[in-house]
Amino acid sequence: MYMLEKFERIKLGHFPTPIEHLKNITKYLDGPNIFIKRDDCTGLATGGNKTRKLEFLMPDALKNKAKLIVTVGAVQSNHARQTAAACALMGLKCLIILEQRLKDPPESYMKSGNVFLDKLFGAEVKICPKDESVSEYSEKLIKDIKSKGTNVYFIPGGGSNPVGALGYVECLNEIIKENKKYNFSHIIHATGSAGTQAGLLAGRKYFNCNIPVIGICVRHKKDTQVDKIYTEAKKTCEKLQCNILDKSDVIVYDDYIGPGYGEPTKEMIEATKLLAKKEAILLDPVYSGKAFAGLIGLIKNKKFKKNDNVLFIHTGGAVSLSAYEWAF
Ligand SMILES: Cc1ncc(COP(=O)(O)O)c(C=O)c1O
Repeated sequence: MYMLEKFERIKLGHFPTPIEHLKNITKYLDGPNIFIKRDDCTGLATGGNKTRKLEFLMPDALKNKAKLIVTVGAVQSNHARQTAAACALMGLKCLIILEQRLKDPPESYMKSGNVFLDKLFGAEVKICPKDESVSEYSEKLIKDIKSKGTNVYFIPGGGSNPVGALGYVECLNEIIKENKKYNFSHIIHATGSAGTQAGLLAGRKYFNCNIPVIGICVRHKKDTQVDKIYTEAKKTCEKLQCNILDKSDVIVYDDYIGPGYGEPTKEMIEATKLLAKKEAILLDPVYSGKAFAGLIGLIKNKKFKKNDNVLFIHTGGAVSLSAYEWAF
């Protein structure tokens, strides 16, 4: 039995996700061949990268006899929505603590998209006041709930810890299984709380795979993000009892964040419109839209060869589009 199978997993999604050739975009950009892995179609409340993480996190919560799952995220957190959905499915209570990261968002941002769905799945939603730190606010709440005798399982923002990252070790496994057909030169995706890239990078060590994995930062600058990814990937390698990666394996670009996390950029809007019009695929304003803008930027900067086969992992998030109509 290989190590990954030793970790308990609950089926929450549709796997393996398909890999498709973006024919129209490839032609339009006149760069490398671009393929897309449809992790936006993982199932569980419309899909996204958190389905994979939750398949490992939820059994861990059960093992710890959790009665209440608590998690944190930005107001339009996709992770929060998918966690609320997983809890609904498993009959567990869910408390979501949302952090206000945007300077001056319209009312629709505070109420529609993911926030609306969090509530539809039956989660309790609390918005952390702007002048309080979300970690202190959630610590206080959790302490209070525990003192009343409820067994709490806390999932960090983005489901990013070595348990959640196992989901992306498994994603790399899917890619490797199909790679004979494609011979991918690069994998590229959005990186935020770091678990997705950490899992893919740990997977490279675990499966002995050499395809470079490029993260496009959506929140932190390069040095901070590299440290976050490396720390999580190292812990995930330890969990898998495989060799530890080199820090130089962590490749990120921080040129596409714009004014800040969740703040729209001209390039994100262009990329999102392009994918909609040329491929009928919905990106999102916070993650995949900025990541695809990054891919376009790297193509323009001649980072790829014409005969490269680049795999873009679509990590989901289109649920928040309706909360961002004002930006378009
Ligand atoms: C749609 C989407 N894409 C990408 C990411 C980034 O993944 P990670 O937080 O694992 O770096 C997130 C999560 O925060 C997300 O919701």
